[in-house]
Amino acid sequence: VHRDQVYLVSLRESYRNEIIPYRKLTWRSGQTDRDMCAVKGKRREECHNFIKVLVPRNDDLVFICGTNGFNPMCRYYRVSIHCLEGKLYSATVADFQASDSVIYRSMGDGSALRTIKYDSKWLKEPHFLHAAEYGNYVYFFYREIAVEHSNLGKVVYSRVARICKNDVGGSQRVLEKHWTSFVKARLNCSVPGESFFYFDVLQSITDIININGVPSVVGVFTTQMNSIPGSAVCAFSMADIEKVFWGRFKEQKTPDSVWTPYPEEKLPKPRPGCCAGHGPAASFKSSIEFPDDTLQFIKSHPLMDTAVPSIGDEPWFTKTRVRYRLTALAVDNEAGPHKNYTVVFIGAESGVVLKVLAKTTSVSLNDSLLLEEIDVFNRAKCLSNREDDKRVLSLHVDKDAHSLYVAFSSCVIRIPLSRCERHSSCHKSCIASRDPYCGWKPHGACERIPPGVLTGYEQDVEFGNTAHLGDCHGTDLISIISNPVFPPLPPFIFSYQNTS
Ligand SMILES: *[C@@H]1O[C@H](CO)[C@@H](O)[C@H](O)[C@H]1NC(C)=O
Repeated sequence: VHRDQVYLVSLRESYRNEIIPYRKLTWRSGQTDRDMCAVKGKRREECHNFIKVLVPRNDDLVFICGTNGFNPMCRYYRVSIHCLEGKLYSATVADFQASDSVIYRSMGDGSALRTIKYDSKWLKEPHFLHAAEYGNYVYFFYREIAVEHSNLGKVVYSRVARICKNDVGGSQRVLEKHWTSFVKARLNCSVPGESFFYFDVLQSITDIININGVPSVVGVFTTQMNSIPGSAVCAFSMADIEKVFWGRFKEQKTPDSVWTPYPEEKLPKPRPGCCAGHGPAASFKSSIEFPDDTLQFIKSHPLMDTAVPSIGDEPWFTKTRVRYRLTALAVDNEAGPHKNYTVVFIGAESGVVLKVLAKTTSVSLNDSLLLEEIDVFNRAKCLSNREDDKRVLSLHVDKDAHSLYVAFSSCVIRIPLSRCERHSSCHKSCIASRDPYCGWKPHGACERIPPGVLTGYEQDVEFGNTAHLGDCHGTDLISIISNPVFPPLPPFIFSYQNTS
């Protein structure tokens, strides 16, 4: 995805380590949108169509949204005709000044549901990062200015919010055309100790994935942007998130008072934030039927009292005392021949990717183990020398191709998930690497363990015990495969349908 363009790339047919798009579609903002954007005082470079959303719906259909010169627009692009199903949830800013932040769902019939406009209890300058569907709900992960923080000055907290999929809005009296089920909680990524050290600024978060069989999300968090750099990776189970949403709500009795838990026994019935037809709201067919006091409550109390604790009550990994922050992550939750290790790839502002064995999946690790630190950014291939362009924007693991894709603003670079060959001359170094992707072959080589192969490779991920092995001499060869991307291609014509 690029400015004014979307590229289709076959990852299996990459040629000479280059990623070559086999199709390209061009979608520029219209002249009118570009003119309006300029009239409103935006710079010419900002008035392009920056593609922000790309959701494949099936083999033939992708849903794409672009900024369209500050007049966002979405389209379905298709190669063949298909029925469209499902509802679109979006979390964005709805106006030119970026002051109306909204979580929004179009209903298909022209109607829509949204969060309350300009209500800082619901959303305050949010920065949305991810949305995921799970059970009866849709979850949103974002950061925002913390309304409940009592000190002066703006402090950012990380949030998870939840909405019922069957929410159709409130009654004509309360919350009509607004969510009746919007609840949110703080995500607590902190290091316990005499005084807790908080990583409050969510930068990137995974989909809901199984960690040791437990549905979870894993995020990378940093300290506040105006404080010393520090970053941490924390995981949260969906069960812990649910538990917080079943707990107490937070309230502020008067505009200047501190926030306190709302007494459980005073809650209206059915319990605010529940889905019609389920649990405490089982007797209600639709959210329109909810009584006024339930709707009034959720309108003024969307925030939960307790923060969601991270798995193990501490980060999986922290990076402090360096000048850069961590910005993106991707997780392989089935690493190693027995698929029982979790490897986290974490990108940084500095163009570096850290490869970490997460402690939760290992019986012996007190702490996560840094397996590799790879300098991925490549000046020549990314056609840039600017510090800003070194920031890793996103990471994607492709297990089948044993590849990690690293996205920067001007390029995408592919590296292998492991580089076992660099230990090839040395048995000791192969075992000491503790890399679940690598094993020592008796004929004398450190190699990647192919999928499905359970025997014939020696590795000691748990302990890296090399006491019985001799030292090696000579230098290890380090090789990084990196690729330039996206040479110009003739545009391919796609059919599309506009949607609001
Ligand atoms: C993963 O499975 C292998 C083989 O069963 C075992 O030796 C190893 O201890 C397991 N590791 C973990 C973390 O469960």
